[in-house]
Amino acid sequence: MTAILKATGLRKLYPVGKMFTKGLLHAVDGVDLTVAAGECIGLVGESGCGKSTLARLVARLIPATDGAITFRGNDIGSQSLRRFAAGPERARIQVVFQDPHESLNPGFTALRIVADHIRTLMPQLDHGQIMARAEAAFADVGLPPALSRRYPHQLSGGQKARVGIARAIAVDPELLILDEPTSALDVSVQAVILKLLGELRAKRGMSYIFVSHDLDVIRLICDRVAVMYLGRIIETGTTAQIFDTPAHPYTRALIDGSPDPARRGMSVQRLEGSASSPVNPDPARCNFMGRCPMSAPLCAERAPALKETRAGHLAACHFASPETAMQKAE
Ligand SMILES: Nc1ncnc2c1ncn2[C@@H]1O[C@H](COP(=O)(O)OP(=O)(O)O)[C@@H](O)[C@H]1O
Ligand SMILES: [Mg+2]
Repeated sequence: MTAILKATGLRKLYPVGKMFTKGLLHAVDGVDLTVAAGECIGLVGESGCGKSTLARLVARLIPATDGAITFRGNDIGSQSLRRFAAGPERARIQVVFQDPHESLNPGFTALRIVADHIRTLMPQLDHGQIMARAEAAFADVGLPPALSRRYPHQLSGGQKARVGIARAIAVDPELLILDEPTSALDVSVQAVILKLLGELRAKRGMSYIFVSHDLDVIRLICDRVAVMYLGRIIETGTTAQIFDTPAHPYTRALIDGSPDPARRGMSVQRLEGSASSPVNPDPARCNFMGRCPMSAPLCAERAPALKETRAGHLAACHFASPETAMQKAE
C-alpha cells in the first residue's frame, strides 16, 4: 500500500494562562500518522483530546509547533501556510467541517459556495468550466439543481452537510479530512450522509481521515482506527483489532461505555473521573494513570511508548499485550 500522507512527531502547543499560571497546553503531543491511498482512518477519543487540532494540522490550516508532514512524498510540513494555500496540494487535501451551518458563507447561494471554492483553488479554469464542475459536484452529493439558488438558512441540516461535502470534492481531492461531519445531524440523516460518504470514497478512490467521538460511526466506515487521549495516539490498529481485541485500558473503557445495545451487560470497566489537564503534562508518567484500573507504580515512573502488540496493532500501555487483548475476546 502506498502512503499518501505521512505525519511524524506532530505537536501543537498553545501558551495559556498568565504570570504564575502560565503554561503550555499540549493539544497534540507527538503524533505519527500514515494514511494509505484509498483507506479510511478514524480518529476517535473524548472531546478535547486533540482530534480537531490534529485534523487541522494535517490539512495545514494551522501551523505545527513541531513535526513533519509529507503528502505523496512532498514535504508540505515545512512550507508556510500561505505558500501551501497557494500550492497544488491545497486542492488535494480538503476538509469537511463539523458544523455545516457555521462553515458555509450565509451570504452566498449553495452553488456559489461550491463555485467560489473551485475558483480559488483552480484559478486556471474559466467561468463555464467552474460552473460545470460545481454543478457536477452538486449532482454527485445528491443535491437537486433546484436547491442551487438557495441560501444556507433555507436548507435543512442534511442539505447543508451535502453542500459542505460538494465544496470539498469539487476540486478532486485525494484526501478528505472529515471533522465530525455528521455530529450536528439527526440520527436518520446521519445514516444517509454516512452512506453517501462511503459511496463517494468507493467511486472516487479518495482516502479519508474521519474524526468522530462516536465509536459506532467509526466502526461502520473506517478501515483503521487511531484512538487519541490527551493529545496522543494511545492505540492504533485495524477496525477489527481495535473493536474485537482492544489492547489499551482506555480503548476498552470507551468501547464498554458506548451505548451499543449488543454490548450492554458486557461492561466490566467504566471510565471514572475526568482526564488530567493537558497543560504542562508530566512527560515521565502515563497520562491515563489517574483513571486507569490497571495502574501500577511503573506507570508513575515511565510514560509508556506506543509499541506493537502484534502486526499493525500498537498500544501505549506498559501492560498492553496480545494476551490482554485475547482475554477480552473470550
Ligand atoms: N486555539 C486554541 N488555543 C488554546 N487551546 C486550544 C485551542 N484550540 C484547541 N485548544 C485546546 O486543545 C485541546 C484539544 O482540542 P481539540 O483539538 O478541539 O479537541 P477535540 O476535537 O478532540 O474535541 C483542548 O484542550 C482545547 O481546549
Ligand atoms: Mg473537535
